[in-house]
Amino acid sequence: MLEQKILNIKTQALEDIEKAQSEKELLDLRVKYLGRKSEFNKILKSLKNLSLEEKKKIGPLANSVKKEIDEEIKKAEKIIKSKVDLEKEKIDITAPGKKIKRGHLHPLTIVQNEIENIFVSMGFEIADGPEVETEFYAFDALNIPKDHPARDAWDTFWLKAQTNADDTQTNTDKIQYKSVLLRPHTSPVQVRYMQKNQPPFRIIAPGKCFRHEATDASHEHTFYQFEALVVGDDINAGHFKYIAEEFFSKFFKKKIKVRLRPSFFPFTEPSFEFDINCTVCGGKGCSACQGTGWSEIGGAGMVNQKVFEVSGYPKNKYQGFAWGFGIERLAMIKYKIDDVRLFHGGDLRFIKQF
Ligand code: PHE
Repeated sequence: MLEQKILNIKTQALEDIEKAQSEKELLDLRVKYLGRKSEFNKILKSLKNLSLEEKKKIGPLANSVKKEIDEEIKKAEKIIKSKVDLEKEKIDITAPGKKIKRGHLHPLTIVQNEIENIFVSMGFEIADGPEVETEFYAFDALNIPKDHPARDAWDTFWLKAQTNADDTQTNTDKIQYKSVLLRPHTSPVQVRYMQKNQPPFRIIAPGKCFRHEATDASHEHTFYQFEALVVGDDINAGHFKYIAEEFFSKFFKKKIKVRLRPSFFPFTEPSFEFDINCTVCGGKGCSACQGTGWSEIGGAGMVNQKVFEVSGYPKNKYQGFAWGFGIERLAMIKYKIDDVRLFHGGDLRFIKQF
């Protein structure tokens, strides 16, 4: 009786195993036939009540059937697994391709490239200078001596540099330091260029600048500036106004007027602030220009003769104009951006719009 029961379970189990299609089904079969609550387990438990003779007969049979079912399930599992693996390796040549994401230029780089292209088309050369600048080029050479209050306008980040890096000083107390700084404007490039070149010339010098600012919607500690310098025998403020109007008209792709207001910079004499007519209302007055019809752009002026002298030019031989303005400011007007911090904030929702 018991023997027949065991053999029936075996037949039924092997049949079921053969039909199973998935690992899950096999797991269920294992529980059904070999689990703690299975009929087979009940039989195994009841063996202890049998006579010794029956025990000798049924015991080994039950064990061998148990082993056989277990092995069959394992075999079936292997086969199903290998089928699944094969399925995974199949290549569906009709599946749509994965889109590769392309990067793009930062809005400030786009604007800088546009500015450079316009100036190169007007015969300007592009000059460059270091972002970590010496006190001499950032201030003294630009007629801003130590302790002059004008230095406050360009408050920046100061660094210390060893004056003689090659000197193998052992006594650290004796090491001499000089002050270097993150340049607060691109004007130092004026002197660096003039020390190596003779007039006449026209250059632009775009680049990164830094200031010790409390940041807000229109102030950032790191920003881009754009210097222009034109020097010759008879360059005057009229040339500046003409070139500025040409440039801004090309940049905004419409006629732009430039307005000069008197100002002060130690390295220009006379100095001006310059405005362009509002690109939103064209000069009538609107909310973007607070009803004035003008947008403030930057500083400019005729190069101070002291700056020529520092650069090694004879006094009163040449005349030139210089200007400087923030590239962010231009990008903000062009793309109608209301917070300068967005440029370096790292928010992709902003950057992806360009
Ligand atoms: N360097 C000045 C600034 O950053 C701008 C400027 C440049 C003014 C050239 C006059 C001439 O404020």
